[in-house]
Amino acid sequence: MARTIGILTAGGDSPGLNAAIRAVGKAAQRAYGMEVLGFKDGFLGLMQNRFERLQSDDLSGILTRGGTVLGTSRIKVDRVETESGRRIDGRAKMREVVEMHELEALVCLGGDGTAKNALKLADAGIPVLTLPKTIDNDVAGTDITFGFDTALNIATEAVDRLHSTAHSHHRIMVVEIMGHSVGWLALGAGLAGGADVILIPEIPYDVEAVASSISARRAAGSAFSIVAVAEGAISRDDATIRDSMESQMNSADKPEKNAIKKKMKEFEGVRAGGTAQLASTLTGLTGLEARITILGHVQRGGTPSPADRLLATRLGTACVDFIAEGTHGVLVAAIGETTEAVPLKKVAGKTKRVPMDHPWVESARHLGISLGD
Ligand code: F6P
Repeated sequence: MARTIGILTAGGDSPGLNAAIRAVGKAAQRAYGMEVLGFKDGFLGLMQNRFERLQSDDLSGILTRGGTVLGTSRIKVDRVETESGRRIDGRAKMREVVEMHELEALVCLGGDGTAKNALKLADAGIPVLTLPKTIDNDVAGTDITFGFDTALNIATEAVDRLHSTAHSHHRIMVVEIMGHSVGWLALGAGLAGGADVILIPEIPYDVEAVASSISARRAAGSAFSIVAVAEGAISRDDATIRDSMESQMNSADKPEKNAIKKKMKEFEGVRAGGTAQLASTLTGLTGLEARITILGHVQRGGTPSPADRLLATRLGTACVDFIAEGTHGVLVAAIGETTEAVPLKKVAGKTKRVPMDHPWVESARHLGISLGD
């Protein structure tokens, strides 16, 4: 039987996924004569043995396409929800499928959730390798993830364009930028796009301080401001409430934990409307009109940037070399100009947050951009 590998895409879609599929597939076929099975819809398709044999034709013409030609899903491999609503551990079935096809390796393209899933499969004896995909750039162990650069371009262009209405109407334009629980995308796009305020989850903000910075700009002659706010950004007051619930959670017994978890879910639900609330509060404090723009999934769509295509290709071809030398249980990481195999057990479950001494944070402060503190 020819040497065979499997590949799947899991978690949120992201620019560069198809470029990575193409790189892994073409390199495996051309350099090592391997067969490549593309499993449909992430780990769910693996469990259900839904796949297509990726031929050379399937890998042509996908470099520039957004999304993933294989489809994706967000299941947890050890808690797969069945149609009846039960949760089952799918790992045994997944391992059965891997062994049936005699897969030399399973390549999982995904973000932090995928790394956790992959480690669970590695612990169940499946030879997995992951590639770091997400627009959030929050995967620990790698300098950068593919998808981030494209989203950064999209979000930066949006910030650029919002300046037109801001200075024409003397308004506060609040733009919500994705990034899940970290601020890389909002900080990068805010800095690149010339935002006047940048709010990220890593720095819980004081809305009075934000309003003061906007009023100071107005007094200095700029009666408009651009506020780039990460979707996970949180006010100091809300951070205090969240942290207190989290510490209660850590010390509670099971029944209490469920009650607190429910309260936290409700709390996060209320916070989901935080951007509109922030805009309205800023109007009240500054007297300036405010409008909000929520970029949402636009940041994940369309063709990947050249930088993301290069990164996805570099990681994908390196991944095949690691497989050929028998390496697995690793994240294929971009470290400077090199590509390294980082053990999944070192990085799975960790989130790469914006460090307070990051050059982007220091530049923002030097430029007098308000970070809400
Ligand atoms: O992880 C990528 C991401 O786009 C996050 O920035 C965002 O919070 C989340 O996915 C949205 O998830 P979904 O596509 O399931 O709504």
